[in-house]
Amino acid sequence: MSNPPVEDFATDFDHTDPRWVADPYPIWDDLRERCPVAHTNRYGGAWLPTRHADVTAIAHDTDHFTSRTVVVGNGRPTEEAPPAPIGVAPPITSDPPFHSHARRLLQPVFAPARVDALEPYVRELCGRLLDPFVGSSSIDASLDFAEHIPVAVISKMLGFPEEDGEIFRGFVHEILEAVDLPQEERFERFAPIEEYFVARIEEHQADPQDDLTTFLLNAEIGGQPLAPEHVFGSMVLLIVAGIDTTWSALGASIWHLAQHPEDLERLIAEPTLLPVAIEEFLRAYAPVTMARLVIEDLDFEGCPMRKDDWVLLSFPAANRDPEVFEDADKVIIDRAVNRHAAFGLGIHRCLGSNLARMELRVALEEWLARFGSFTLSNPEAVEWSQGQVRGPRVLPITLG
Ligand code: HEM
Repeated sequence: MSNPPVEDFATDFDHTDPRWVADPYPIWDDLRERCPVAHTNRYGGAWLPTRHADVTAIAHDTDHFTSRTVVVGNGRPTEEAPPAPIGVAPPITSDPPFHSHARRLLQPVFAPARVDALEPYVRELCGRLLDPFVGSSSIDASLDFAEHIPVAVISKMLGFPEEDGEIFRGFVHEILEAVDLPQEERFERFAPIEEYFVARIEEHQADPQDDLTTFLLNAEIGGQPLAPEHVFGSMVLLIVAGIDTTWSALGASIWHLAQHPEDLERLIAEPTLLPVAIEEFLRAYAPVTMARLVIEDLDFEGCPMRKDDWVLLSFPAANRDPEVFEDADKVIIDRAVNRHAAFGLGIHRCLGSNLARMELRVALEEWLARFGSFTLSNPEAVEWSQGQVRGPRVLPITLG
């Protein structure tokens, strides 16, 4: 089911509108000039700040904006379900003060040494995915490559079977893309997700392993074991947060290089530039927009925000604000100063950024080592995801 078309994004925006899905940048640029905090009555009422300063202010203001839910949908979570302070997927859905406990717990899992230890696995995996295409004339950079990497990495970390990747991509679709469905249908579709995770938790309870699932089952906050819904929620978060985010960023990077031979040639000639270029791809094609709910009526920059209005916190729009970034609409792969917001701002800043950066670097290194020249097979055939995480889901590439 799709929503009615948008007449004016300033007063009726919808992030599932096909024009937004295909190319949101001109929409945000126009809004930033004309109506920097846009509004819509859709989804029960939502706001969209497009200036970097406004996105920053809201991301830091946990007194007035709650993370109780971060994905805009047609309904609202009640105060009771999911139960405070844990929320549905801690720490991303937790507010202070509980947030810092839930976050601190996961921090060691993403420490640089732990991420470095995974690098050989990621490199081997990329080789396994790409080698069959060496000598071929085409590959789908999303379906054959990008979508498999983050799924395999997080499955390995949680101790889930690598072959369940397709199941996880289905979960991510239900949680992040099917946002225009009625609330009841959305909840019905969540049932298999719960069943899957409960089964994995029970297996690990019966047979503990050296993995993240067993780590969560043994973890404590203030001397108490985690509540079962905390263990479950953090596992769901890691699957969702880690998969289509990195998949999207990798796909968008390859999409860019397929259309900019000058950038491609330069990266092949100067491989040490790759980490700098990745930061620019993350800025320009930032995949993740998160949401907040307004806690109580307030005036924000002249906008009368009401309790339980959504705010779509567009880190991607902030990253294109010319007030903060020179030539914000240009992709400059050796951009010297690049304090982008792709990993968020404030207390919820991405915990997996080290892991994501490693996966992106290794995946692009392995791709570029095999494919020195490539183009989009057909720009019209590229399909982008719908919702708050944006990236190419179908990306046919001609090699050579
Ligand atoms: C390019 C890839 C990624 C991008 C662009 C990205 C972006 C983000 C953003 C914008 C937030 C802030 C959310 C908010 O303010 O509500 C966030 C939070 C988070 N991300 Fe990522 N992410 C990526 C990859 C990952 C990976 C690979 C993992 C782990 C497997 C991960 C785990 C998390 C977690 C646990 C949080 C919640 C932190 C908190 O609430 O304190 N992310 N991410």
